[in-house]
Amino acid sequence: MPTALITGANRGLGLELARSIAAEGWQVHSCCRMPDKAPELRATADAADGRIQVHRLDVTDDLQVRSLARSLEGKPLDLLFNNAGIYGPRDGFGSQDFEAWSKVLAINLMAPMRMVENFVELVAASQHKLIVNMSSRLGSISENDAGGGYPYRSSKAALNMVTRGLSVDLAPRGITVVSVHPGWVQTDMGGSDAALTVADSVAGLRRVMEKLTPEDSGRFFDHSGAELPW
Ligand SMILES: NC(=O)c1ccc[n+]([C@@H]2O[C@H](COP(=O)([O-])OP(=O)(O)OC[C@H]3O[C@@H](n4cnc5c(N)ncnc54)[C@H](OP(=O)(O)O)[C@@H]3O)[C@@H](O)[C@H]2O)c1
Repeated sequence: MPTALITGANRGLGLELARSIAAEGWQVHSCCRMPDKAPELRATADAADGRIQVHRLDVTDDLQVRSLARSLEGKPLDLLFNNAGIYGPRDGFGSQDFEAWSKVLAINLMAPMRMVENFVELVAASQHKLIVNMSSRLGSISENDAGGGYPYRSSKAALNMVTRGLSVDLAPRGITVVSVHPGWVQTDMGGSDAALTVADSVAGLRRVMEKLTPEDSGRFFDHSGAELPW
């Protein structure tokens, strides 16, 4: 049975990814910061006939990441989905909160790398060997003609660079690494005016993942399968 690990799986896109991947018969390690405060994830896990395991994981906590990786040792991981993310401060030019910006980088940029470094052996031992970093179109440098959003945009642009670097470093091990943009989605982050439902976005992302080949490694796709410019 293929296995996935998803971060930030207690709400929004992460929760729906866990639900829908488990519904296809996969085993899913669903990670969240506070399992005891994640009633939707717990209910989803209860309805999944043992295919969803819930794990406590703050992706910025090195000890927690290392101990989860150790507890899964010997269990191949077909898909590592780095989904957890925050938008951070929305202040424009001239009023940056640099401490808050650091937190955005810790969660959106450095945590995915920490996850990959800790789980790479399990991914390498799997059949699918896929790592997906949840990026955003707002991280596209060439598409930025609106300015603003410095913390979030810079975190996702840098995450894209991490994707690209990993695609080179992990190619010899047969691991495919991509960045994806889920569309503008109705979640706590995307807001209720967003264009896409969580279900439609995740259905699209899953279609994209199903078609990926090693030749796609180091590329950036949206939920419709269109390739995005860096
Ligand atoms: N929605 C959109 O339109 C959109 C567009 C482009 C990209 N994205 C990306 O999609 C991903 C998911 O976003 P979403 O829209 O589903 O947002 P969301 O509903 O706000 O969910 C964010 C998730 O990330 C988790 N998280 C935050 N900090 C964490 C940490 N330190 N450790 C572990 N988990 C942490 C949250 O957990 P808690 O509940 O514990 O805070 C939550 O589960 C993000 O990477 C986001 O940047 C979203």
